Formats: sequence, C-alpha cells, structure tokens
Amino acid sequence: MNQANTVSVFRVLGNPIAHSKSPEIHRSFASATGKHIEYIAQQVDDINFEAVVADFFAHGGKGLNITVPFKQRAHDMAIHVRPAARRAGAANTLWQEQGQLVADNTDGIGLLRDIRQNLNGILQGSRILVLGAGGAVRGILQPLLEQQPQQLVLANRTHQKSQKLAQDFSELGPVSACEVNRLKAPFDWIINATAASLTGDFLDLPSGLINYKTRCYDMMYGDKAMNFRRWALTQGASTVNDGMGMLVEQAAAAFYLWHNIYPDTAKVLMDLQLQFGCSSKHLN
Ligand code: ATR
Repeated sequence: MNQANTVSVFRVLGNPIAHSKSPEIHRSFASATGKHIEYIAQQVDDINFEAVVADFFAHGGKGLNITVPFKQRAHDMAIHVRPAARRAGAANTLWQEQGQLVADNTDGIGLLRDIRQNLNGILQGSRILVLGAGGAVRGILQPLLEQQPQQLVLANRTHQKSQKLAQDFSELGPVSACEVNRLKAPFDWIINATAASLTGDFLDLPSGLINYKTRCYDMMYGDKAMNFRRWALTQGASTVNDGMGMLVEQAAAAFYLWHNIYPDTAKVLMDLQLQFGCSSKHLN
C-alpha cells in the first residue's frame, strides 16, 4: 500500500509507444482515487527490454504496463505468473511482491468487462467468431470460453495458426478453427483481433456472417478500427464497437492489481471517446 503523500512510479513500456493512452488513463484513475502517482510512457529498444524492467524495479518503481512487442518477454521474465498471463503466454502488467517479479494479463478481463458491463453484451449461449490467431487472441480465449458460448470459431489468414490455438484451448470449451473462405451462417458476435488494420488491410471475408442481431467488436480503436467497422456496417451489423472500452477496462484491472482499488471507468471512457469522436456506433 502507498503512503498517502508518497509518489509511486509507474511506466508503460513498448515500441512504438508515443500513441499510448495509458498515462492519461492511469493519471485520471489516480486523481479520482486520491493516489499520488507518476505514470510515463517509455519507448524501449528491442535489445534493452529486460534491463529496463530490472532497472525500473531496482530503483523503486511500483508497476509496469507492457505493450507490443514485449508482452511475451514480460511473461518470460516473471518469477510468479498469474493464471491469465500463463494461459496467454504474455503479460501486460508487472509488479513486485517480496522483491520478486509478478506478471498478470488484464487484456481478457478488460474485453469481457467492456462487452458485458459497458455494452450490455451477453456471450453465454452465443456464437462467437474471433478473427486472428496472434497473441491478442491467446489473451482473450479463456475469458470468452468461461462465458460458455454455444460455439467459438477462430478464423485467421494463416489457417494453421488458428488450428493450433483451437487445439491449445479445446479443453476449456467449444472452440474450433475454420478457414476464412469456408465461414458461413451469421454469428452473434464477431471480434476482430487481427493486426490487419495497422496496414490498412482487412481479411477478405465471405458475406452472410452478419445479420441484424450481430454485434461486432474491434480490439483496435479509433482510426485503426475503421476498415472492420466499415465492413461490419456495410454487412448490416446491429452494433459496431472499437476497443477503447477494452483499453480503459484493462487499465482499471491493472490499477486494481497495483493499488487494491478498482477505479470507476465510466468518466475516463467518456472523456476518451469525446477526444476520438464517437468510438461506438449503435445502428438501431
Ligand atoms: P498480436 O500479438 O497483436 O495478436 P500478432 O501475433 O502479430 O499480433 O498477430 C497478428 C494477427 O493479425 C495474426 O492473426 C495475423 O495473421 P497471420 O497469422 O496470418 O499472420 C493477423 N494479420 C496481420 N496482418 C494481417 C492482414 N494484412 N490481413 C489479415 N490478417 C492479418
């Protein structure tokens, strides 16, 4: 626990990092909960990651958020790996307990909280299509399957990767892989976890995957979610949301791990949505 007037030091490490909203989010949480923190985004060179982490904690740093491309290395460094991070093989939150590095992954809980609490979504009994098979998908599969969907289908540009993921998670629920061009029948949820939008691309998906009830969600936010959003809207989706809420919710879960207080996310999310224009589009 922090002393009332001591400033605790936090960082988010990644490369690139200039775009990160984490400092703004964590500072807002801190001011709302009366915590005195310093939280800065720091770009780290590939070769230096482990040294930067070790140096940060050696100098009294309290907690780190880790983003692309270092989440796996953060997981590998930790002495104590919490179950969500172990399952994902990746960590986005680090801190120390009794001088030993602890790692957790709050991405999955962030997605779930956004879908269930902010968007009033129901995943239980639903048919879910997840696009992608990278680290981002690995981080969300367990929490999604815990919601007991009727079916969770993975589709990815490289089919073998989604097959491998489906195998790895098969004991947790009804997860299967399907080649992109063989996908059919409408889904209740379509979650885009590919990095395609970063290059202005999008998967060439068959039509018929969306009906008037389908809810679409891109784990990217802002302009990066544009191609998926355009596709979902053209196909007649019920709602399309970007990952801004997930970003805020994963930060709240990390804040809780560090400070033992769960911050209220509604105001922070609204402020960010105002900054970015409207991040969610409800069509009916
Ligand atoms: P992350 O850890 O953020 O998930 P990643 O492991 O590099 O990042 O995974 C990126 C995902 O986006 C992969 O599923 C990738 O597909 P491949 O497995 O075929 O590489 C997908 N992806 C990236 N660029 C894409 C594009 N232009 N079109 C379709 N899928 C793409």
